[in-house]
Amino acid sequence: MNYMTGSELRKKFLEFFASKDHLILPSYPLIPEDDPTLLLIGAGMAPFKPFFTGKMKPPRVRISTSQKCVRTGDIENVGRTARHHTFFEMLGNFSFGDYFKKEAIAWAWEFLTEHIYLPKDKLWVTIHPKDEEAFEIWKNDIGLPVERIIRLEDNFWEIGPGPCGPCSEIYIDLGEERGCGSEECGVGCNCDRFLEIWNLVFTQYDRDEAGNYTPLAKKNIDTGAGLERIASVLQNKKSNFETDLLFPIIEHTAKVAGVTYGRSAKTDVSLKVIADHGRSMTVMIGDGILPSNEGRGYVLRRILRRAVRHGRLMGIEKTFLVDIVDIVAAIFAEAYPDITDKKEYIKKVIRQEEERFQTTLAQGMELLNGHITEMVKSGNKTLNGTIAFQLYDTFGFPWELTLEILLEHDLELDKAGFDQAMSIQRERARAARQDNEEKIVLPDLSRLSGEKLSHDFGASNAKVVLLWKDGKVMEAAHDDEEIGVILSVTPFYAEGGGQIGDTGTLTGPMGRVQIATAKKLPDGTIYHWGRIIEGTLKTGDMVAIEVDETRRGSTARNHTATHLLQAALRSVLGDHVNQAGSMVTPERLRFDFTHFAPVTQEQVSEIEKIVNHQILKNSQVQKREMPQDEAKKLGATALFGEKYGDIVRVVLVDDFSKELCGGVHVSSTGEIGVFKIVAEAGIGSGVRRIEAVTGFGALEYIRDRETTLLQAAHALKTRPEELLTRIDALQTGIKELEQELNAVKAKLAKGEVEELLSGVETIQGVKVAVGVVAANDMDALRSVADMVRDRLGSGVVGIGAVNHDKVNFVVMATKDVVAKGVHAGNIVKEAAKVAGGGGGGRPDMAQAGAKQADKIGESLETMKNVIRQQIK
Ligand code: ALA
Repeated sequence: MNYMTGSELRKKFLEFFASKDHLILPSYPLIPEDDPTLLLIGAGMAPFKPFFTGKMKPPRVRISTSQKCVRTGDIENVGRTARHHTFFEMLGNFSFGDYFKKEAIAWAWEFLTEHIYLPKDKLWVTIHPKDEEAFEIWKNDIGLPVERIIRLEDNFWEIGPGPCGPCSEIYIDLGEERGCGSEECGVGCNCDRFLEIWNLVFTQYDRDEAGNYTPLAKKNIDTGAGLERIASVLQNKKSNFETDLLFPIIEHTAKVAGVTYGRSAKTDVSLKVIADHGRSMTVMIGDGILPSNEGRGYVLRRILRRAVRHGRLMGIEKTFLVDIVDIVAAIFAEAYPDITDKKEYIKKVIRQEEERFQTTLAQGMELLNGHITEMVKSGNKTLNGTIAFQLYDTFGFPWELTLEILLEHDLELDKAGFDQAMSIQRERARAARQDNEEKIVLPDLSRLSGEKLSHDFGASNAKVVLLWKDGKVMEAAHDDEEIGVILSVTPFYAEGGGQIGDTGTLTGPMGRVQIATAKKLPDGTIYHWGRIIEGTLKTGDMVAIEVDETRRGSTARNHTATHLLQAALRSVLGDHVNQAGSMVTPERLRFDFTHFAPVTQEQVSEIEKIVNHQILKNSQVQKREMPQDEAKKLGATALFGEKYGDIVRVVLVDDFSKELCGGVHVSSTGEIGVFKIVAEAGIGSGVRRIEAVTGFGALEYIRDRETTLLQAAHALKTRPEELLTRIDALQTGIKELEQELNAVKAKLAKGEVEELLSGVETIQGVKVAVGVVAANDMDALRSVADMVRDRLGSGVVGIGAVNHDKVNFVVMATKDVVAKGVHAGNIVKEAAKVAGGGGGGRPDMAQAGAKQADKIGESLETMKNVIRQQIK
């Protein structure tokens, strides 16, 4: 066994499998492509699911990767054990219908024993109890003693729906001194003695959403070896956290916190949490994820905030997460150099999120601690779900964090109550948003292998190669059916890079299809989605294709304008501007970007000016294909998390804009006509959105504005250029009227006060003023009551006022009559009840509202009766 750094190990693994004829691919980004069943990539095989099921053809039947993974199922264990992580790297070799168990087992053994020199006599394996084939290979081919081949029932690997199968795991015995000492200690024990380092999955089933297992036509291999775990063995460390892949973060944080690693179990947990979470957040943000309250953004927020809290637990008061980015970037300098490139951006996102949470963390903790103290005192074990929701909604506490803190005090959380509060809020948001995302189910596409499919913007005729409906391949489709179509050649632009897909029609010998959009399969094949508007379409039909050119032209104008906008944003706001989302339609363009302050009016008009300047220059828009490296050298902007093949398409406008893009563009910028920003707003932490229009859309927008202006001028009986002066004059007039009105109101109120005073009754020696007044709201009503009470000097005031269909009541009593038993709160309660309302308050002052305005007289009578009873 030789010492090896994490980077050396990663390299050695990939080189080994390259020597076994595997195609070595870089890690896929953490955001899964076209896989709605997954939030984040959590295994080396996840990006390859369609290759395993045979739905798509892989670039090579043998592939090997070191894949970035995030798993949060066990997040509460992170920091408390030697091996749990949210972020880790999985080394893997994959066979798509090529080699199977024999080779997978032999190569794993060869790598472990002959390339990184793990001692043979310390290796153990597990197999599925029914897997005699694996047993024979381990025993006969490898020569492993049978007592070190353990049969385990749960040796079956799956991750949600998709490819799965029985597996065989390889363990290393780290020695008795690392064990729990129990008689039963052995492979599978929870202690640290037997460490699982590699899982070989014999992928032979496809599991559907309903849980049915269908045998796959071709058998596959999926393996996963934990980089951090093997590194801990080779570096002879007690835990993954002490390897060179994590320890530099611990050393740094310990210094900031003024603690020493290894001295206290409590601070060690916090140091490990921060080391693990520091890597996760850096890589996640680098892959284009931003903190939010949903989906993967929420996972990121939760991880980041958990790290902040652990910093606090060690007494770190200032922001500290930002500096960890430098250390993570250095750890991954070789494997993921893009993190170094995006360092400043990643830091900005973290800084903002950390500062935001720090301002609410202390307040939230105070609230939660208050509840905890109360609960401990009263013996109540469960925190109310609405409080957890308040902590989430107002103080930014992910509920999992609240739960973790509660568990530290042996308390629980009413999760159902939290969910209910959350779902009420979600429902409200959904109603406001009106989600109408359609979901297309893809069929088995294996029939496509062997077909030559191509893309050609000029194509006007093609053969129907595949037709499907509801996920099932069909020979023919009829009137009104919604279908997917794949053509031998297509001129359609497929949705991508924020641009919507082309629309158009396909006309066959017996029918016609209206195409609503075109989309891309993960391997780049374009399919069309539409509805049969006439007759029948059959597989093999020749169709005439018509793409809606006007729509495409408008889309092209908006797309090129989006590129110009991005370049202008960078030049006006700075290089930190990165694309965070984009939507290009024929009507308008929407561009989301990272920026940490509002864009001022001056900046907006500067940006508009720069883009229009580029349009007036009428520069040629060049589209060039080149190797990825060359594009990088040229300084082309790539999107976050997008994966590009070797040859990429770069769209250039002089030296002004260079972007990797497959979209439809104009030939020269002059075609855009004019560019006008119509909206600018913040849409989340550190992300802003600009909406703009071009060409006829811009003309229409300007016309609309002009019409509104003319109508406004007309309504104010003036000309547009006089509007401001006119509005000024009107406002001054309104102010004067308001002053006059207030004076009149005051006079009126005085009159009402006088009237009330003139009707004062004396009940048992107490002066009682009860009556109806005119008051628009509770404030006005209160001020009348104040005046009457002051004038009375001693006594009770009870007044009501009708406002629209509602009625308000106020009751006030002076101190001396309160001493005699008068209680304003009880008086108003009874009075409001009569009119179908409720309310209450203190003995000296109370108010209430009710719905039945016609009952106001009865209410006032009730007031008097209650007063009478109170001073009896
Ligand atoms: N996909 C298998 C795992 O994640 C190798 O363990």
